[in-house]
Amino acid sequence: IPVDPFDLVIFGGTGDLAQRKILPGLFRRYCSGQMPVDARIIGAARSEHDSAEYRAFAAQAIREFSGGRRCEDGTLDDFLNRLEYVTIDARGTDGWEQLASLMRDGVVRAFYFSVAPALFGDLAQRIHEHGMATEESRIVVEKPFGHDLASARALNRTLATHFDESQIYRIDHYLGKETVQNLMAVRFGNMLFEPLWNSQYVDHIQITVAETVGVGGRGEYYDKSGAMRDMMQNHLMQLLCLIAMEPPAKFDPDAVRDEKLKVIRALDPVLPHHIVRGQYGAQDGEHPSYREAVGNPRTRTESYIALKTHISNWRWAGTPFYLRTGKRLKARSSVINVLFKDTPHSIFGEEAGRHANLLTIRLQPNEGITLQVTIKEPGPGGMRLIDVPLDMTFSDALGPEEADFPDAYERLIMDVIRGNQTLFMRGDEVEAAWAWTDPIIAGWEARNDVPKPYDSGSAGPTDAEMLIQRDNRNWRGITP
Ligand code: BG6
Repeated sequence: IPVDPFDLVIFGGTGDLAQRKILPGLFRRYCSGQMPVDARIIGAARSEHDSAEYRAFAAQAIREFSGGRRCEDGTLDDFLNRLEYVTIDARGTDGWEQLASLMRDGVVRAFYFSVAPALFGDLAQRIHEHGMATEESRIVVEKPFGHDLASARALNRTLATHFDESQIYRIDHYLGKETVQNLMAVRFGNMLFEPLWNSQYVDHIQITVAETVGVGGRGEYYDKSGAMRDMMQNHLMQLLCLIAMEPPAKFDPDAVRDEKLKVIRALDPVLPHHIVRGQYGAQDGEHPSYREAVGNPRTRTESYIALKTHISNWRWAGTPFYLRTGKRLKARSSVINVLFKDTPHSIFGEEAGRHANLLTIRLQPNEGITLQVTIKEPGPGGMRLIDVPLDMTFSDALGPEEADFPDAYERLIMDVIRGNQTLFMRGDEVEAAWAWTDPIIAGWEARNDVPKPYDSGSAGPTDAEMLIQRDNRNWRGITP
């Protein structure tokens, strides 16, 4: 079903995100028939171009990044005809009159701020000054949403001067991933799991987001952020919230976000010895080390982080949550593992072996869910127990076509147009996440903490293994 007609302005329309995600994502939705034929997309940026050049830029981006989506002949040209371009000065006056004259009345207006956060205030103000903000207007902002609690608060205040919270869409693209939403479907759509979803039955939970890529060309941004600010404060935090939150009364934006906020506020501070920071080295003369990649031989920024935390509430008291994320690791794998406790007593005797259930939720690649169950080892050899997987790999269970999920950005942009904020972060959530992160970072700074080196292509620093092994547990998935 197509969404309502809209005008979407992409500030930073010639930038990396527009090229890799936003334009190809919009094209895929257009192909699927979800974008109305009279929708309009207006790229806005500082560089001088006309609309024909912008269409050529978009065509190239789509060819390169839209994942080979097959469409009817002529669809690409139809889509490109939806595009306009305006050269604009975010801090000055150039281009604003022209942009305002392009806006139509009576349609949804979405303004995507795909620019440095320092410009958010200027853009919001100018949208207002030029009479472009209507009840039907929304703004979309990208991470990083602040650098710490103080800057996030300041950003929230700036945006709030011009827009109501119900008009602000803060993107965390992990929330747009199909399997991340499936987490909620699995938890709240089945009777099977929720009764066991607490510290009485769950031994511990692991969340791993491992990447094989390095910092690439983003060294300047990344070196000021590190894995804590770039991934932990947002993507891993959001996964933790969805795994740990209480059932919301309904699947509605504020009901869901209220529950997520309670999780963040119940997080214990992380003790210094419950956290390991790492920094990758070079590999085979082929890939530069982190320090080389960011061009700073003395940098102490981490490209890897592993930590243990607790949620101090009735459901989770005593259950550790182990979180890790890093770049240039041995595999790309985002996985949540819920490890259940052993049975209280083995009727088969210790010699049969002890096994615990394990629920694995694979976010990427190879999306799916596996439940490890214990059965008898086949054969006449007596009662010995083994583990077998109940495996639901989505592409097998649903067929490759159905499992060709929309990219996170495609879904999220359509949600903006529909006016559904469920998968977007609320201002108070972002602030609470920084309130938890800030003291950790302040602790490193006070101690002049130096990240542990790890080899590119490895499982991360050995100290991260020790972090969990000290508790007689092991990481699942990526291991040395
Ligand atoms: C971004 C981070 O938010 O997420 C990047 O800034 C990271 O550093 C990326 O590589 C990972 O996203 P995905 O969808 O590839 O897992």
